[in-house]
Amino acid sequence: MKIMVIGSGGREHTLVWKIKKDDRETELFAVPGNGGIYEIAECIPAKTNHSEHIADLAIKNNINLTVVGPELPLAEGISDIFQQKGLKIFGPIKKAAKLEASKSFAKEFMKNNKIPTADFEITDSYDKGIQILERRVFPCVIKYDGLAAGKGVMVANNFDEAIDFLEKIYRDKIFGDKSNKVIIEDCLDGREISYLIFTDTVDFLPMVPAKDYKRVFDNDKGPNTGGMGCYSPPSLFNQELEKLIQKNIVFPTIKGLQKENIDYRGVLYFGLMITKKGPYVLEYNVRFGDPETQVILPRMESNLIEIMEAVTEQSLKKCSIRWSKMKSLCVILASAGYPGKYETDKEIKGLKEIENLDVILFHAGTKRENGKILTAGGRVLSITAMGNTFPEARDKVYKAADIIDFEGKHYRKDIGLE
Ligand code: AMP
Ligand code: GLY
Repeated sequence: MKIMVIGSGGREHTLVWKIKKDDRETELFAVPGNGGIYEIAECIPAKTNHSEHIADLAIKNNINLTVVGPELPLAEGISDIFQQKGLKIFGPIKKAAKLEASKSFAKEFMKNNKIPTADFEITDSYDKGIQILERRVFPCVIKYDGLAAGKGVMVANNFDEAIDFLEKIYRDKIFGDKSNKVIIEDCLDGREISYLIFTDTVDFLPMVPAKDYKRVFDNDKGPNTGGMGCYSPPSLFNQELEKLIQKNIVFPTIKGLQKENIDYRGVLYFGLMITKKGPYVLEYNVRFGDPETQVILPRMESNLIEIMEAVTEQSLKKCSIRWSKMKSLCVILASAGYPGKYETDKEIKGLKEIENLDVILFHAGTKRENGKILTAGGRVLSITAMGNTFPEARDKVYKAADIIDFEGKHYRKDIGLE
C-alpha cells in the first residue's frame, strides 16, 4: 500500500510514524515533509496548497490513500479535486471544511443545531461592529471570520481594546480581505480541552482528549502560538463529562451535518470550554490538532490506516478503537523569536544522545542539509513521552528537552503541571 501525507509539521511526522508502526510494509510519501519525516517517507517538495499538482503526484506515484494534515488545503478544496479524479483522500471537502474556514458559518451551524456555544453577533462592517460593541458587556471576544493562523481571536477587556482590534481588521486589513465578517461573542469562563473524533457523517469514533498550551510562556503568559505542549488525558476529564460532550455536542453536530447535507469524512476537532454550565464549543477544526496529535496517536492501539480507509469509504460503523491507559505528554522546542519573527538555519545538536531515552522525537520546522539537521521553522521539535503517571512522562520529556540544543531554543517548563 502507498500512502501520502500532506504537511510538514510535528502532526504530520506523528501521522507518518503511526502509519509505519501499524504497517511496516506501507510505502510512505510526504508533501513536503521535514528533516524527520525524511527518515521514513519519500519527501516531495511541493506547496501544500497546490492541490491540482498534488493530485497529479498521487496519480504518478500510484498512491492508494492521501492524508491531509493542515487546514489550508482542505479549505481550498483539495478533497473535492481528489474525489473528482477518483483518488482516495482522508479529509473533508470544501463545503465541510467551512466549519473551520469560516467562524461565522460555524457559529450559525451551532445556533441552527442547538449546540452550546457563546452567545454572539456578526458584523460585516466597522460601523456595525461599533454599534454591536456598544450593547455588549466586557470582556468580550472578537473573532475574524476567516483563517488567520491562530491570530484572529482577541479577548477584549474593554471598549477601547475592542475598537483597536476592529480597526486592525477593517482599516489595516491585517488578515487581508478574504472575508469582511467579524464575530463578537460572550467571553466564557472555564477550562479548555481538545476533543477529536473520526467521522464519516454516518457514525463517529472518539479519540482520547488532550489539553493544549497555547501561550508561549509559562503560566499562560505572552502571545498565542500554534501550541507549545500538550498532554492526554486532561485532569478534569471523566466518563460523565464525555457522555455530556457526546450528548450535547457530538451527536447534534453529526445530526446537523446530515440535516444540512454536508458530507464530512475526516477528523472533526472540537475546541471546548468546560464551564460551570457544561461544555461549550469555542471552535471546530476540520483536521488533527498540532500538538494534540503528538500525544493522542502514541496512545492509539488500533490500526489508524484501517480507520482512515473506513472513513473515506463511509464504513466507520464496522470499526472500533482501543486506547492505551498510559498518560502521554509532549513539549515543543521553539526557535528564538517564535511566535513572532524567528531565526532559522541553526544546527540542532544532541539528537544522538537522546536515542536511548524513552521518548519519541517528532520533527516540525527542521530540514536536512549536508548530513546535518537544521532549524527551519518556528516550532522546531516536539518531544513526547508516555508514563504511568504525568510526573514520570514529564521527567522523560524534560530530560531530552535539556539535552537537545540549538541556538535560541526555548520551551515551556510547566507542561503537565496544573
Ligand atoms: P478559537 O480560534 O475560536 O478557538 O479561539 C482561540 C482561543 O481564544 C481559544 O482557544 C480560547 O482560549 C480563546 N477563546 C475563544 N473564544 C472564547 C470565548 N468565547 N470565551 C473565552 N475564550 C475564548
Ligand atoms: N493545537 C491547536 C490546533 O491544532 O489548532
